[in-house]
Amino acid sequence: MTKTTITIAIDGPAASGKTTVGFMLANHLHYLFLDTGCMYRAVTLAAMQQAVDVQNEAAVVALTRRLTIDIRPTDVYDGRMYTVLLDGRDVTWALRSTEVDAQVSQVSLYKGVREEMVRRQRAIGAEGGVIMVGRDIGTVVMPDAPLKLYIIASPAERARRRWLERQQRGDTVAYETILADVLRRDAIDSGREHSPMRPAGDAIIIDTTARLPETILEEILALVRPFVDRD
Ligand code: CDP
Repeated sequence: MTKTTITIAIDGPAASGKTTVGFMLANHLHYLFLDTGCMYRAVTLAAMQQAVDVQNEAAVVALTRRLTIDIRPTDVYDGRMYTVLLDGRDVTWALRSTEVDAQVSQVSLYKGVREEMVRRQRAIGAEGGVIMVGRDIGTVVMPDAPLKLYIIASPAERARRRWLERQQRGDTVAYETILADVLRRDAIDSGREHSPMRPAGDAIIIDTTARLPETILEEILALVRPFVDRD
């Protein structure tokens, strides 16, 4: 039995559980895990830190091209799945702030930002053996991925999960604020001109509402097996 490694594309709306199951799957298969959302978040944080107006497309695109975003397996055990270094500084938790949530979908509209991110994502995924998570992975970044998943959950469940995560980090943001943000980002992400969020034609849709991550992992592993276990 030889082991084949494949690229697995996972997309879906905000807080649908795609990062959690994608990370579990990557650990299980010993694959590289790439959460592309943190790259768009890193550009947004850099714009905020460097006083670049997020409405100024040319300035945001120029900023994107000069940023170093390094996503690496972590040796810090504070609940993070990976560490993100932005121009060498650890910004892993800063990427999750309400301020970044509020601006990230604006930054993600820009063609020049997307082209730069997609170029970097493809370079990371070129060797296969990667689980890539985002909004446009199955449609744009890795359209040839043999397995594409589109992870969904009800808005109330998504907001509840994100609210719980925030509570656990000692962040007291209201449930209603989170629900509104999740719905607002979904509307922008799915309605945008460049690479809108949508399932690829050959994506398998998985609804994670009221289901445990372990159960979903089992379902996905059954889908993966035919690709990776070959004689
Ligand atoms: O974790 P959550 O689902 O809340 O969001 P995320 O995956 O970190 O993505 C944050 C934002 O980045 C999304 O709302 C999109 O605006 C943008 N994004 C994108 O445009 N394309 C991707 N491949 C990934 C994220």
